[in-house]
Amino acid sequence: MTLHHLMLFLHVLGVAVWVGGMAFAWLCLRPAAMQLPPDRRLTLWCAVLQGFFPLVWLAIALILVSGVGMLTEVGFARAPLAWHVMTLTGGVMIAVFASIWFGPWREMRTAVVAEDWARAAVAMNRIRQRVGFNLGLGVATIAVATLGLGF
Ligand code: HEM
Repeated sequence: MTLHHLMLFLHVLGVAVWVGGMAFAWLCLRPAAMQLPPDRRLTLWCAVLQGFFPLVWLAIALILVSGVGMLTEVGFARAPLAWHVMTLTGGVMIAVFASIWFGPWREMRTAVVAEDWARAAVAMNRIRQRVGFNLGLGVATIAVATLGLGF
């Protein structure tokens, strides 16, 4: 096993946690949670995201350190175009996640503590839209990284 193998392992592990977690939330948890009344649904989401979002920061750290590490092995100028695209789309995903963390996620936590369900629902809706966007971009990034789409 080389250092490259180790970095690739950590990179894909981070991707699995982040993209897999978003897929689970969107495709499995959301339809099930829709059956609950707003107060219980939003309290549940708050507890779920409180566990998931710190894991996403950890995944981001793994993805960034390993990704930049593998990129510097080859050199940015000589890296394939697909790697540049991955860096760009990965950067957008991280920015979108930061916008959730510092924006609607804060609002949602405060609103749930205050039992202001209308405000919590608005914040949760914003989080849902941005997570949906990141899920799509994450799948597209995996496609760019693996499908050999001619670049
Ligand atoms: C944000 C900065 C990122 C950088 C600098 C980066 C860079 C890299 C590099 C240099 C490789 C090694 C490719 C190889 O050795 O073949 C790689 C592999 C990979 N990356 Fe990224 N990446 C980033 C983000 C992402 C994101 C956000 C995803 C998915 C959501 C992703 C998915 C993958 C996958 C699936 C591989 C394995 C490809 C393979 O070996 O076939 N990367 N990345």
